[in-house]
Amino acid sequence: MASIWIFHGPNLNLLGIREPLHYGTRTLAEINQELVASANQVGINAECRQTNHEGDLLDWIQALTPNDFLILNPAAWTHTSYAIRDAIRAVGVPTVEVHLSNIHAREAFRANSVIAPVCIGQVSGLGAEGYVLALRYAIDYQERRRK
Ligand code: DQA
Repeated sequence: MASIWIFHGPNLNLLGIREPLHYGTRTLAEINQELVASANQVGINAECRQTNHEGDLLDWIQALTPNDFLILNPAAWTHTSYAIRDAIRAVGVPTVEVHLSNIHAREAFRANSVIAPVCIGQVSGLGAEGYVLALRYAIDYQERRRK
């Protein structure tokens, strides 16, 4: 069973061709491969998923436990989804929110995250490197809990 989960929200399946100035040129498959390999190197299972359907993401979050760790890029749902926020809080899974672009330096509607208040923290604007940094944090977090 994975203990670190990386969930990507809508349109992130288009990475590589989608607005590269904001989101870079790496594909989601490339990013995911690097994350899973890095976690496996230190003996931790990680699993990545992407969906364009909010209900799928809600079901996936509800299937987690407080012993898991979630790295979440909610994409456009960041700005709208009280349902995702409530699911994270209900399950009590420690969560870090990641954005490839700097959501605070773009259109005004992107600056507000309704998810951030139920997260440990947010990484925004560091491109795909943001996932790597969030994973490093998640690995440390899980290793601390194992001791
Ligand atoms: C995003 C930022 C969101 O505002 C946007 O809707 C996305 C991607 C990011 O990774 O920068 O789809 O979450």
